[in-house]
Amino acid sequence: MINVGVLVSGRGTNLQAIIEAIEEGKIEGKIKIVISDNLDAYALKRAEQHNVETQYINHKEFKNREDYDKKIVETLKNKEVELVVLAGYMRILSSYFIKAYKNKIINIHPALLPSFPGLRAQKQAVEYGVKISGCTVHFVDEGMDSGPIILQSAVEVSEDDTEESLAERILKEEHQIYAQAIQLFSQGRLIIKGRKVFIKK
Ligand code: GAR
Repeated sequence: MINVGVLVSGRGTNLQAIIEAIEEGKIEGKIKIVISDNLDAYALKRAEQHNVETQYINHKEFKNREDYDKKIVETLKNKEVELVVLAGYMRILSSYFIKAYKNKIINIHPALLPSFPGLRAQKQAVEYGVKISGCTVHFVDEGMDSGPIILQSAVEVSEDDTEESLAERILKEEHQIYAQAIQLFSQGRLIIKGRKVFIKK
């Protein structure tokens, strides 16, 4: 049973999928806190509807990114969080944060990394003309969407796909693999060796 902290900025469909996977017993874990940098994030409402504790932390009250992240880390540690899950969290983590939770922060990205890191990955994929895209769950390191890959799922891109239509199909896969990856972490089955993540049978 692992204590999870989820960081969000927006609508929170991945958070919703994680909450449901926990409720259905597919993840042996508990969400101790959902933290948002955006007071209006719909993700906060989703958490409240499931009696999950939430906290909004306003970055404008801190003089720089590190001070902001110190406050977040302190909040997570107070809740005895063991795994930090980024679910549509749109801020880059400082190295302070990454060191404080080394190899214990995971992110979901809507492309098959290392293709299309950064913002609007689905738009990048459509514009590039790839035939296959998908999503990636990875550990977070100091780079941009560059940490060791845990799970990926592929989605075919059709000629008439738009950013929105592709994003919708990828999102369904995100919800599946994010829950799976959290459960693997919770079971202690993810072993990082250099760039590679080995999944214990
Ligand atoms: C998801 O598609 C996630 O992969 C993406 O933001 C969306 C959040 O949706 N994350 C990134 O692009 C991170 N670089 P959600 O709030 O409904 O989970």
